[in-house]
Amino acid sequence: MAPKNLPLSVAAIVLGAAAFLACADEEASPGPEASAESVLATEAAGVPEPADNPANPSKVELGRLLFWDPILAGDRDIACGSCHDPARGYSDGRKVSIGTGGAAVPRNALTVLDAAWNGWTALTPAPAADAAPMFWDNRAQSLETQAAGPILAANEMRGKNHTEATIFPEVVERLRAIPGYVDRFDAAFPNRPSEEAGDRIAKETIVRAIAAFERTLVSRPSYERWLAGDESALSAAAQRGVADFRRSGCSACHSGPMLSDFALHRFQRGGEAIRTPSLRNVLRTAPYMHDGRAATIGDVLNIYRRVDRDADPAFEGLRVPGGRGGDASDLQAFLAAASDGTYDETIPTEVPSGLPVGGRIRAE
Ligand code: HEC
Ligand code: HEC
Repeated sequence: MAPKNLPLSVAAIVLGAAAFLACADEEASPGPEASAESVLATEAAGVPEPADNPANPSKVELGRLLFWDPILAGDRDIACGSCHDPARGYSDGRKVSIGTGGAAVPRNALTVLDAAWNGWTALTPAPAADAAPMFWDNRAQSLETQAAGPILAANEMRGKNHTEATIFPEVVERLRAIPGYVDRFDAAFPNRPSEEAGDRIAKETIVRAIAAFERTLVSRPSYERWLAGDESALSAAAQRGVADFRRSGCSACHSGPMLSDFALHRFQRGGEAIRTPSLRNVLRTAPYMHDGRAATIGDVLNIYRRVDRDADPAFEGLRVPGGRGGDASDLQAFLAAASDGTYDETIPTEVPSGLPVGGRIRAE
């Protein structure tokens, strides 16, 4: 893991730690689950990246073009950006996603924002970038591994005209035939030994460029600044919301800088084991839950009112903020403060294939 950007100066980190220690006894202070140590790790480590995929500006820009270019889809009709739209918090606004040719995808689209920090909990530093857990069930590790997933999946991007064995060779061949891509892969991977420029275009470099771009899609919400010790970063209502959230037992799972333990939990005995989603940017990414069954935060709270408390030990003592039918406006203020970071929303105006940017399938 190599630090890539250092958001705060060392002086600010020290001040943050001092502020943290000074207010550790107050109810709405950052609190024990964001230990001074883990907060400092958050701030100091920047965005983790794998040793074999250091970012450079050409690689990031190539990754952005690939993210938006339907050339990666078997039938050239869909791109990563079709389901991960900046206007929808890099999600798609749908209950569950729609893939190539209108195929059903049985899952709600997770945001790509801050996924570079997946695995970071209150108790552990951010995992090495090649171990960051991905998907609702943590089934892939690292952004690089994840990026191959939708290209290989028949219902997301591959379609019916190619197989898992043939899709990457097909995509590589397409990219090699586009001079704009040959030049950009050369610039992005200058140290990769190759007899001819086209050799730099391979499955491995495609997913590396996409992952390097995704590592730039990070947001730093007010909630994180508050965890780092800036008391003024949260309104009084948001601070009450944090306290209520913790008292209610929500933070048994949604804790730390990402508001997730990145562990799998069951809502019913014998039910599916699903990862606690990060609540960063949550207000930008409705509908909610892995199957999109909750349209609003109110619907989510209703699910917790009915949850099978014996399904998971972490539900012991759970209460629902706002009470039965009560006003959850403090909770909303807190979730807003976890969702207010700014991030790169740039969509390229054209892609080197000349195909429509983002393909024919668009976020809702
Ligand atoms: C058809 C819509 C669709 C397309 C196209 C798509 N995704 Fe996704 N993405 C999803 C859905 C749905 C999930 C959650 C799937 C799951 O967990 O099983 C997801 C999950 C992810 C995650 C995991 C985030 C996390 O926190 O675990 C990343 C990263 C991601 N997608 C990036 C990409 C990239 C890169 C591409 C293009 C190569 C892409 N997606 C194409 C719908 C899509
Ligand atoms: C036992 C661990 C656990 C506890 C306790 C818990 N959650 Fe969750 N939370 C999860 C999991 C797992 C999911 C995803 C469930 C699914 O997709 O079916 C989730 C989903 C959510 C979502 C939807 C996020 C999204 O992007 O779809 C919100 C909002 C949320 N929880 C808020 C809360 C609140 C508020 C509380 C306290 C009342 C709480 N959670 C308590 C584990 C937990």
